[in-house]
Amino acid sequence: MTVPSAPWWDGTAVYQIYVRSFQDSNGDGIGDLPGVKQRLGDLQDLGVRTIWLTPFFPSPNADFGYDVADYCGVAPEYGTLADWDALIAEAKQRGMRVLVDLVLNHSSSAHPWFQEARSSRSNPKRDWYVWRDGRPDGSPPTNWRSVFGGPAWTFDAPSGQWYYHAFLSEQPDLNWHHPAVREAMWDVVRFWLQRGASGFRLDATAFLFEDPAYADDPTPEAADVNPLRPHNACRPENHGVLRELRQVLAEFPGDPVLLGESSTNTLDELVATYGGNGANGDQGDEVQLPMNFLYGRHWQRDAAGFKALIDSAQAAVRPHTPVFFFSNHDHPRQWSAFGDGVRNDDIARLTAALTLAQRGTGLVYMGEEIGMGNLPADELAAAPTGPKRPRADFRDQARTPMQWSAAPQAGFTTAEPWLPLPQDIGHHHVAAQKADPTSLWHWYRALLALKQGDPVFRHGEHVPLDSGAPDVLAFGRRLPNGEGAVVLLNWSNQPRTPALAGWPGGAPTFGATVLAHPAAPQGGVLPPFGAWLVRVPASA
Ligand code: GLC
Repeated sequence: MTVPSAPWWDGTAVYQIYVRSFQDSNGDGIGDLPGVKQRLGDLQDLGVRTIWLTPFFPSPNADFGYDVADYCGVAPEYGTLADWDALIAEAKQRGMRVLVDLVLNHSSSAHPWFQEARSSRSNPKRDWYVWRDGRPDGSPPTNWRSVFGGPAWTFDAPSGQWYYHAFLSEQPDLNWHHPAVREAMWDVVRFWLQRGASGFRLDATAFLFEDPAYADDPTPEAADVNPLRPHNACRPENHGVLRELRQVLAEFPGDPVLLGESSTNTLDELVATYGGNGANGDQGDEVQLPMNFLYGRHWQRDAAGFKALIDSAQAAVRPHTPVFFFSNHDHPRQWSAFGDGVRNDDIARLTAALTLAQRGTGLVYMGEEIGMGNLPADELAAAPTGPKRPRADFRDQARTPMQWSAAPQAGFTTAEPWLPLPQDIGHHHVAAQKADPTSLWHWYRALLALKQGDPVFRHGEHVPLDSGAPDVLAFGRRLPNGEGAVVLLNWSNQPRTPALAGWPGGAPTFGATVLAHPAAPQGGVLPPFGAWLVRVPASA
């Protein structure tokens, strides 16, 4: 059978490692790069081929590494550059690839660039950041709010000006109009590609530019609900930078990839982040894998809503690769967000199948595959801050250490972990689930094998389907030769009887079951929270 060829990053899965919480190798309670290396075998068992590492660079940790003080270094708490090299060597040997988190929008205020910039108005690096005079009454230059709340400007008393920060005041925005900023960052990109990275996860690129008129936001309070505002996000200037970045990547062999944290308010903006879909003669020469946040923030068990989101995205981004996910280090964990408190493990199979059985690239956030949930609110509130956890963060609920086994601290560390594990992890650890062929871990393993190895699930086109039953989401996959599969997901706690419409040429003939949970339909009835993936043979 001939199937279309595809780049390595198309139709695959990317496993996100929150490095601080993955595996501690030296008994300080903080995950590190040697810990990641130690666990590559476990990830390979699961079927992971590509990992994304959250920032491990030197940082004052105002935003746990997303405030970068040295873009080409490794923070001592995470290891050394030699540890990075060893990790890459081990990954290569296992046929795995590593993506580095690239924070372009801002540096840390402790970065030497900013230290120089703030030292005087005439410093050559002054314009590497965004400085403005305040208003005559002493207030900030505009009424813009930061993504984390409060004003987006901080006054620098010695130089008498305000600097802009889309995020924390410890994260001053770089001035992407400045050619020297671009060149400095492209050198960072070259540094990691030369050192074995296969590409980057792009942090917060929606926020690279601001409205050059510096006009007030007419409804500043709207930013507290949705931080993507016309003055600060998805500006047309972003595209030039992303295109330039792609050209830097093209200097390197192996087709390095950009996986974009590409929050957008609309599907059109998402399509634009690829550099277009060719419809208007555009080239698709920007981000190969921009994440679909319209999907990634739809935290409701909502078959009709999912259908609208996936059918529209699949159609709009063609011929590019859609990117689906729900969980990450900023979001609530999907096991908790979608769970009903009773059947969470079953519901977790539905969200996994929805994300991973579709055409496109899917993200898995560490621990998702064993049903890790949010740290319960009372345990989070009781979690101490201190040197290892300089501040509490509202997102810490989803950043607790990886649960490897029933050992103390779930095998993450031999010390006190920087952030506590849940008191009761039950069967939600890798050792228990690896040993149980009916576990969620095995469900993920099967989905990853399909996604990356099965021609229909890797390459098949998306086929929008109507399920004919409330709460049941249906979609199909189909190769040009007619061979395909149907996915049926019942989001209700009641049995449902679907009657499919939309398969090309009439109702599909079902072949072998690929995956089913808790059981394949009996007499056409899909069980409560049932998931069924079934082959559709090419019609004779
Ligand atoms: C991205 C990161 C988030 C960080 C922010 C600022 O959204 O995922 O963790 O706080 O950028 O860098």
